Amino acid sequence: MWGIPLFPEAASSIAPRVDALYFFLIGVAVFFSLLIAGMLIYCALKFRRKSPREIGSGSKGSIPLELAWTIIPLAITMVIFVWGADLFVTISRPPDNTLNIYAVGKQWMWKFQHLDGQREINELHVPVGRDVKLIATSEDVIHDFFVPAFRVKADVLPGRYVTVWFRATKAGSYHLFCAEYCGTRHSGMTGEVIVMEPSEYQAWLSGGAPEGSLASAGAKLFSDLACNTCHRPDAQGRGPVLEGLFGKTVTLNTGETLTVDEAYVRESILQPAAKITGGFQPIMPTFQGLVTEEQLLALIEYVKSLKALPQVQTR
Ligand code: CUA
Repeated sequence: MWGIPLFPEAASSIAPRVDALYFFLIGVAVFFSLLIAGMLIYCALKFRRKSPREIGSGSKGSIPLELAWTIIPLAITMVIFVWGADLFVTISRPPDNTLNIYAVGKQWMWKFQHLDGQREINELHVPVGRDVKLIATSEDVIHDFFVPAFRVKADVLPGRYVTVWFRATKAGSYHLFCAEYCGTRHSGMTGEVIVMEPSEYQAWLSGGAPEGSLASAGAKLFSDLACNTCHRPDAQGRGPVLEGLFGKTVTLNTGETLTVDEAYVRESILQPAAKITGGFQPIMPTFQGLVTEEQLLALIEYVKSLKALPQVQTR
């Protein structure tokens, strides 16, 4: 519009849906603004005082009018609510079979870690037409991952994993911002999301990654930190068997149950005593301060990669 970029490009599967709701809201607001302003002017003219001594005739209530201006706005707001809730659920629930990428926010940069081992800073390469799920955390303060062209935005919190998903629909390069004030150079915490055709993406993936996959980096760390002395696949170790554990439900020594997810693995590494698996002693030392956020991601990915061994009963 006159060369002014009022709107970012719509480059994800949900962008047109977010825009549709947004335009509906604008439409409703414009309609009622005009209606109210019009009525105001009309009534001011029609019912103005015509002689200095004129006295108003008072007003009588009108039940149909009151019902109308209660029910119509209620209906409109319910449409907005249901529409918005539907969109919210779509945005906040990643579909199955996503391409997973880890993201770590830090003052003042975005770090991305692909499962194949590639790492990037302030650049994120993704294929077009594929559901991508970012598993994001922060290593210091609250940041906010924001790609206007995808209409996705999520606070990235220290000590937690949040997921953001999108399906890019157009190849190209799109701005990435931090949308939460996070210190002096917050405004410089920007980057690019580079959406590539699947074949180009494959070529890009195979281009670098001298260090091997994230899970293999985790495997190395797992033995470097001597985790493997207690977490043994043969159930003879002092810690729970990790093979096949991810995504399973475990019973804690308090009798509670929980599903093993990224957050639980992370907590078990940093605060092992917080939630002890039933039947085990709280003897694991903490690794707080000994492993970085990236190393945690590698360890989590390694635990995820451990498939259940057929002959072993996991506890
Ligand atoms: Cu990070 Cu603002």
